[in-house]
Amino acid sequence: MRKQFALVTGSSSGLGLEMSHYLIEEGYTVFGASRSGTDIDHEDFIDLEVDVREEESVMAMYDSIGETTFGLNLIVNNAGIYEVSPMVETSSEDFMNHLVTNIMGPFHVLKHGHAFLIENITHVVTISSIASQRGFENTSAYCASKFGLNGMIESVREEWKSLGIRFTSLMPGAIDTPLWSNLSSDFERSKMLDPEDFIHVFDMVVKAPPNMQFKGISFLHKSGVII
Ligand SMILES: NC(=O)c1ccc[n+]([C@@H]2O[C@H](COP(=O)([O-])OP(=O)(O)OC[C@H]3O[C@@H](n4cnc5c(N)ncnc54)[C@H](OP(=O)(O)O)[C@@H]3O)[C@@H](O)[C@H]2O)c1
Repeated sequence: MRKQFALVTGSSSGLGLEMSHYLIEEGYTVFGASRSGTDIDHEDFIDLEVDVREEESVMAMYDSIGETTFGLNLIVNNAGIYEVSPMVETSSEDFMNHLVTNIMGPFHVLKHGHAFLIENITHVVTISSIASQRGFENTSAYCASKFGLNGMIESVREEWKSLGIRFTSLMPGAIDTPLWSNLSSDFERSKMLDPEDFIHVFDMVVKAPPNMQFKGISFLHKSGVII
């Protein structure tokens, strides 16, 4: 069987790190992309340093990927930032950084990933958020970025339908990852999903029949929404 290749952005931490380990176990060769580098030492893992906000950095990433393969079976748009602050205390710079990381990042990854699509095979999985479906207080920048991300994905899904490219978007509630560690507010970690819960859903997506995509899977801890 032909080797399977996956690109995971934001592989250095949290969900991206978990997905990279999972995909290696499943037999994929994984390109892991982040600014700080990923601590995975495995022959089927290729660590790539990239800042998804910068188009040229993403183009250089694909140049490196092109040295190994011409096609990606899976593209996981996962890299993202999350900060908490009341709207009037949010600087324009912080607001813009959310938009540039969480929307422009996936835009760069998909625009230049087009050359690596395999017709009727490639599955694009986007890690959006429950905050793309409803607003939460003190997260105007994050909510704006994730609502916008969904809009872009919905559009590209239509553009690439004729190529047989699948698009799945995941919209989880809070998951206990390092994302929550450096925030000014305290959040109750016991009411968050574990990364293993997330991988349970990701596994279902990755192993879905080849004619299936999931427009938006929303899932959260049984205790309800926290953000
Ligand atoms: N944890 C949750 O509760 C939760 C819930 C819903 C959705 N999500 C979404 O899930 C995704 C992953 O979150 P997480 O919880 O795993 O967070 P995390 O532990 O903070 O990891 C974020 C990852 O994104 C990477 N990243 C950030 N900015 C980047 C940039 N400019 N260029 C390249 N990589 C960048 C980081 O790597 P470097 O810093 O090394 O670049 C890191 O690997 C995010 O999109 C987040 O919005 C998370």
